[in-house]
Amino acid sequence: MNDAAHEPPYDLEFVPLSADDDETAGQWLDLVAVTAATGPRSAPPCNVDLIGSLRFAPPATLLDDWVVRSGGRLVGALRLALPEGAPSARVDQLIVHPGVRRRGVGRALYAHAVRLARKHGRTALTGMVVESLASGPRRDPGAAAFADAVGARRSGIPAGLHQWLDLGRTDPLAAGVPAVPAGYALVTWGTRTPDEYAVQVSRLELSLGDEPADAAEADVRTSYARQFETMRIGRGRRAHHTGVLHEASGVLAGYTSVSKTTGNPAYALQGMTVVHRDHRGHRLGMLLKLANLAQVLRHEPEVRFLETANAEDNHPMIALNEAMGFEPYDRWVFWAGDAGAED
Ligand code: ACO
Repeated sequence: MNDAAHEPPYDLEFVPLSADDDETAGQWLDLVAVTAATGPRSAPPCNVDLIGSLRFAPPATLLDDWVVRSGGRLVGALRLALPEGAPSARVDQLIVHPGVRRRGVGRALYAHAVRLARKHGRTALTGMVVESLASGPRRDPGAAAFADAVGARRSGIPAGLHQWLDLGRTDPLAAGVPAVPAGYALVTWGTRTPDEYAVQVSRLELSLGDEPADAAEADVRTSYARQFETMRIGRGRRAHHTGVLHEASGVLAGYTSVSKTTGNPAYALQGMTVVHRDHRGHRLGMLLKLANLAQVLRHEPEVRFLETANAEDNHPMIALNEAMGFEPYDRWVFWAGDAGAED
């Protein structure tokens, strides 16, 4: 076959991406916007959030960001996330401009990811591919075909179910916020976690509420909540939290978090909701989410859409979301590939 359109572009030039390089960062924002416009409805990319993401990594994670040029034009981007102490590197972004697809740029980016992973001492690459649900919009099957073509395989990690709530069609607060069960009290906070809850939020989040109540204080990474909120603030995100206190012990029994970017007044992300295992069975999860939604709408009256994602096998949380009016949208399927031994 001698089809020029399918020849690999040998003039590819990989360039590290930095927020301080205004020109390249601006071209990267354009690439992200063009790529998002080719997919079904989603929260539009927010430039403040994206540029912030180049400066503020998630807790205990290093980000390695790259773009690739062909003939001087930016044609693709790669973000590798390197969680501290993990054997693998995560591909958080691997995108190719829609105008130059099926010419080998994706393969070249993946090979670059393998090289970088090795350089960072990782032996595997992981990634996520969005797939359609029978009831949801059509997602491009090309991403899964691409992952397969570069040798990645579906990992054993349960896929995530991605759900949306459209407040224009469903009002989860029509019946008001449920009563707080006896022995508990609600507390609220914004983007910054109050000092008195920072350790407890970190413990709840890192253990997903499964940590024994008598776990040693020394084992707790107290900085997690602070690092997470530093990232949020750096990315221009605002957050709203509702927590539930167990009055007799003074312990934070659970909390929920909704955040939003500066650029999208109508879109918000329903993040972590966790209730400690000792306090489950009182419908505190639903209470937290509804009370927090009421708080979000008081502060952010323009919010109309909320998105969330949970492991497909987290049936209690998915059922709770459905009871609120969240609808299934697509699936986030995890892949893993070999990065081989270090050269
Ligand atoms: N349909 C079927 N197979 C495909 C498709 C497709 N749309 N796209 C790529 N492939 C497979 C083919 O086997 C292809 O080889 P071939 O063209 O010789 O048949 C092989 O993947 C390599 O294709 P490339 O040309 O190197 O890939 P491309 O530059 O087109 O980029 C990508 C592919 C990154 C998936 C692009 O479509 C894109 O940017 N999509 C949106 C972002 C995205 O979904 N990224 C997820 C990547 S998966 C991951 O990160 C593990």
